[in-house]
Amino acid sequence: MVEVLFVCLGNICRSPTAEGVFRAMVEEAGLSAQVRIDSAGTGGWHAGESPDPRSTRVAAQRGYRLEGAARQVRREDFARFDLIVAMDRSNLRRLRELAPDAAAAEKLSLLRDHGPPAERGQDVPDPYYGGPDGFDRVLDICEAGCRGLLAVVRERLEA
Ligand code: 4NP
Repeated sequence: MVEVLFVCLGNICRSPTAEGVFRAMVEEAGLSAQVRIDSAGTGGWHAGESPDPRSTRVAAQRGYRLEGAARQVRREDFARFDLIVAMDRSNLRRLRELAPDAAAAEKLSLLRDHGPPAERGQDVPDPYYGGPDGFDRVLDICEAGCRGLLAVVRERLEA
């Protein structure tokens, strides 16, 4: 079993999108029984809310379903999850502060570190205060990052 947690700021736009995209890819790969997926936010303002309807709409256009209720990330998540994937560098900094020890911090990466090499170290731009194009762009980036992440998960399962 490999457990993957996606983390953004509010847990209503970017991380639920990555979660929905990755779940579809894992299902397609026939690995649903071996991979658990969740998402959380570094902030708790939207706790309990469904994914942002703007994210849900663009995801549905590509055949992905976004679900779940927003929650704030907690220190205990470092014990449960094997891979904790931050959407931007600010989320990553916050997660590094929260990590209980060095082994926990090694579970952290940026989504775009799993995407095209030229884009490593970059953020998934926060679409919350922008127009609809931002949400489409988040989906493009999530698809590219999740493809690479699936390869990482396969390696873990085979190790
Ligand atoms: P997310 O987007 O981090 O991708 O879920 C945001 C959602 C809410 C806020 C910021 C970003 N907010 O400031 O409320």
